[in-house]
Amino acid sequence: MEEIKGLRKYELPPLPYKIDALEPYISKDIVDVHYNGHHKGYVNTANTLIDRLNGIIKEEVKSYDIHGVLRNLTFNINGDKLHTLYWKDMAPEGKGGDKPGGKLGDLIDQQYGGYEKFKKIFTEAANSNPGTGWAVLTYDKENSNLNVMTVENHFMNHLAEMPIVLILDEFEHAYYLQYKNKRADYVGAWWNIVNWDEANKKLDGLLE
Ligand SMILES: [Fe+2]
Repeated sequence: MEEIKGLRKYELPPLPYKIDALEPYISKDIVDVHYNGHHKGYVNTANTLIDRLNGIIKEEVKSYDIHGVLRNLTFNINGDKLHTLYWKDMAPEGKGGDKPGGKLGDLIDQQYGGYEKFKKIFTEAANSNPGTGWAVLTYDKENSNLNVMTVENHFMNHLAEMPIVLILDEFEHAYYLQYKNKRADYVGAWWNIVNWDEANKKLDGLLE
C-alpha cells in the first residue's frame, strides 16, 4: 500500500502592509498582538492539530476524541482564513475608505438604495453582534444578493455557497487596546480604512 502522506500544514500569510499602516484607526500595538499573537497562534495550533489528525489517520494514535480534535481544528483553520480576509479588507488611509465603486458599488446602490443606507445596516449588524464574532458581507450567486450577516465565534462551518466579500473582526482583541469597551467607535473608525478595491476584486471573481 502506498504511504499515507496525510493532511498538509497551513502557513501564516504575510501582512499586506506595515504594522503601523492602519493608524490612527487601528494602532500598531493592536495589529502586532492581533497578527503576531492571535493569527499566528491559530495557524500554529491548526498545524499541531493536523499532526494529531495525521496520527489518527495513520493509526499511530490509538486513543482520541475525534469530535474535540475536529472542533478545535475548525476553530483554528477558520481563525486563519477569517483573519487573512480581514487583513486584506483594510488598507492605509488614502488607499482605503471612501465609497465602493465598480460592480460592488452598483449592486449596493441597487439593493440597498445607496452606500449610506448599506453602511447603516452593516454598522447596526456589527454593533448588535453579541460577544465574539464577525460582521460580514457575502454574495449569493443564486440571486446575486449581497447579504449582511453576523458570524458567531469562528464556527462558520461554512456559509454554504456564500463567499465573503467584506469582513470585520469584532473580537475584543481587535479593538480593546485602543477603544476599550467602545466597540461602536472601532466599527465607526474601520470604515475609514475599508479596502473597497479588494472587496470589488473578490466580487469580480465571483461574477466570472
Ligand atoms: Fe481577530
